[in-house]
This record gives sequence, C-alpha cells and structure tokens, in this order.
Amino acid sequence: MSGASRIDWRSRAGGPLRGELTVPGDKSVSHRALMLGSIAQGTTRIRGFLEGEDTRATAAVMAQLGVRIEAPSDGERIVHGVGLDGLRGSPQPLDCGNAGTGMRLLAGLLAGQRFDSTLIGDASLSRRPMRRVTEPLARMGARIDTRDGLPPLIIHGGRRLHGIRYELPVASAQVKSALLLAGLYAEGVTEVIEPHPTRDYTERMLAAFGWPIDFSPGHARLEGGHALHAVDVDVPADFSSAAFFLVAASLVPGSELRLRAVGLNPRRIGLLHALRLMGADIRIEHERSSGGEPVGDLVVRHAPLRGIELPEALVPDMIDEFPAFFIAAAVARGTTVVRGVAELRVKESDRLAAMAAGLRALGIAVEESPDGAVIHGGALHGGRIDSRGDHRIAMSFAIAGLVADGEVSIEDCANVATSFPGFVDLANGCGFALQTCV
Ligand code: S3P
Repeated sequence: MSGASRIDWRSRAGGPLRGELTVPGDKSVSHRALMLGSIAQGTTRIRGFLEGEDTRATAAVMAQLGVRIEAPSDGERIVHGVGLDGLRGSPQPLDCGNAGTGMRLLAGLLAGQRFDSTLIGDASLSRRPMRRVTEPLARMGARIDTRDGLPPLIIHGGRRLHGIRYELPVASAQVKSALLLAGLYAEGVTEVIEPHPTRDYTERMLAAFGWPIDFSPGHARLEGGHALHAVDVDVPADFSSAAFFLVAASLVPGSELRLRAVGLNPRRIGLLHALRLMGADIRIEHERSSGGEPVGDLVVRHAPLRGIELPEALVPDMIDEFPAFFIAAAVARGTTVVRGVAELRVKESDRLAAMAAGLRALGIAVEESPDGAVIHGGALHGGRIDSRGDHRIAMSFAIAGLVADGEVSIEDCANVATSFPGFVDLANGCGFALQTCV
C-alpha cells in the first residue's frame, strides 16, 4: 500500500448514473512522455498529464537523474530535455512506487547509460516478475542484477549494448518498450516481434520525436545512433479509467453518461467490443485525432447484458479492464467464459484470484482455472472485499456496490491514487454512493 494511511470504502446503490465527465489522463502515455521528453533535445510540454502516484514517481525518478521538470499547473509538465546522453546517475535508489510500467521501461532506458542505477518499488511491485525484461536486455549486453527475478533491479552502467531480434514469449507492451528504449543506445538494429499486437504508444511517440522507426501491429524495428527532438504531447483521457464508468452505467438502470475525449487507440478498447458483444449500448461521438491518437466521447446507456465466451483475440486489448469486465459478467444473464488471461496473475495483484474471491464473497459462482475463469451471472449481495491494495480491484468492486442488494465494503483502497486520483468525487458526482473510511 502506498502512503501512510489506510483507506477503506463502502459502496451501495445510488441513483441512476448521469452526467458528463472527463477522466484523468492516460497512464501509459504520461509515463512515456516524461521519459522521451527527458532524453530529447529541447523542451517538451505535456498537457493532460496523469497526476497519479505512478506517473509522479516516474517524474521524480527523471528529476533524480538530472532532468528539470516544471509543473506549472495540474495536469501540465514542462520537461527540459537533456539529450540522449545527458542523464546523470543518482547515488540514491530510484523509487518507481507501485508502477510496473515505470520500472520496466526505466530498466530499458537505463541499461545503456554510463552510470549504475538501482530501481526499487513498493511491496506489490517488489513481487512482480522482472526477468521478462532483464533476460532480453542481457542478450543486448546489459548487466542487471535482480533478487531471483524480482526487484530491486541493480543496473550496471558502462555496458555497450547491441541490437537484437527478439520474439516476445508473452504479449507485453512494457517488455517491447523496454527493448526499444534500450535500442536507442544500442549499436545496430533492435527488432521486436509480439505474439499478439499490444499498445504502440512507444513506437508512435518515438516517431513523433523524430526517431526513425518502422512499426506495424505486432512488430517494431529501430536503429541506435539518432536523436530525439522535443515535441508537445497532448495526453488523452485514459480508456482504462473510463472503463469503470462504461461498466457501471451499463449495469445501473436509467443511467446515461458521457465520457469526454477518451483515448481510443485500437489496442486499448477491447472492453468496448466485449461489452457490445454482451449487449451494451455504447456510442462513440465526435471521433477525432489529438496528438496523433484517436479520441472520442463515449456515450453509454444502461442495457441488459448477457454472458459471452470472450474471444481470446480481445485479451491484450483489454488486459487492464478484466476486473471491471468480471463485474459486468457477474451481473449479466448467463455464463461468461474467459481464457488465456494468465497475465492477470502478475499484475498489481493476482487479479484472477482477487476477482474470483471477491465475487464469491458477494454470492456469485466463479470457477477459476490457471489461465481463466467461468463466471455465472446472478444476484450480487453485500459483503466484504479485500482489494489486495490493487487500484483496479478496488474500483471494480465499487461498481458492484451499485447493483448489490446490500453494502459492499472494500478494504485497502489507497492505491486508487496510483492511476485515478479523484475517483471517489467523480464517481459520487455522477450517482455512485461511495463513502471513504480512513
Ligand atoms: C502497459 C502495458 C500493460 C498494462 C499496463 C501498462 C504499458 O502491461 O497492463 O498497465 O504502459 O506499456 P504488460 O506489458 O505487462 O502487459
């Protein structure tokens, strides 16, 4: 858990959800904008920056590495780039907090520096597998010590990196991005091939910063020895944060919400397709391009949902949305079958286990397998949930409270601030009845 104090929530049925809201900026884009802005030549202005603990931790790390970052207002950062070779080593460990994205991308960025670095994280991050990045980085010539594959990461500087061709064993944008960032410092070509295409923000942003890169879904290739040139970055609203409201408004009768200017990168909107397969009423309006990314307003109305067999091809495009999706499945009529989601076991918590246990505590029958679950839709009752300090588990069970026949208490919710500062106020403003107990 981050921060000093523990926060629990109580969620119960509110009114229908109504109104227009803007959820905070995209976490993935905010991390990358800070990192690329830091090693670019010139000044990068980031608008719509996520003021979450994860992205603030990355900003603090870049500052510790000698980058001047101004915060003129909420959601804005001005990054004074130091150029590709301008970072300075820090004798102190670099604390990534709860952020897997921060740590894995930084591992790639720091592997080719002249100085040593140590990356640390909180209790949850310290349990997350890092071999998936350290092993391919070692093949590029990096030397990174771990504690049996877990953080802290001790990254030895002064290594000469060389490009490799790497076929990822699991679909992971974090691993792909770590290798591409190391590839900036490597001799020759770095090429990454994915088993299923994942979010391509690193590739798009490198191209926007002027680094020559070839990429298409599932493939990226670049060469070391170029320069990054600062450009301004407009961060769209985070689809993963909008997801909680898409599910909540779908489930609560009489609801209609408009979520403004949400990022609609095709590699992020698997949940939208999955909910529509279940019968959800979600429309995209004012679709436009902002900073090279598709964005649009999402208008969601209540609709009765039915269980589905989730197409496995959607899994990477909704990897962070499974906790919310499981709540939709629990309320849907019939059975929902999910397969091919073993990755959920190594997120901020074991999300398969956390969701299965939480739904059972509320009276839903769930069969869990090593890489999936079968959820039998039914009536949700009140009960007590352990969020396991996982932001997305906490927010998902806040939705459950809206449709359960009794109060849902959710323990250990402080980490919601890692990705969604202001969630409670925004949720209550549109009809949730969510109470915080410190
Ligand atoms: C992210 C990639 C995904 C996702 C995470 C953010 C990124 O992780 O779950 O929240 O910004 O690259 P994996 O690469 O582990 O799938």
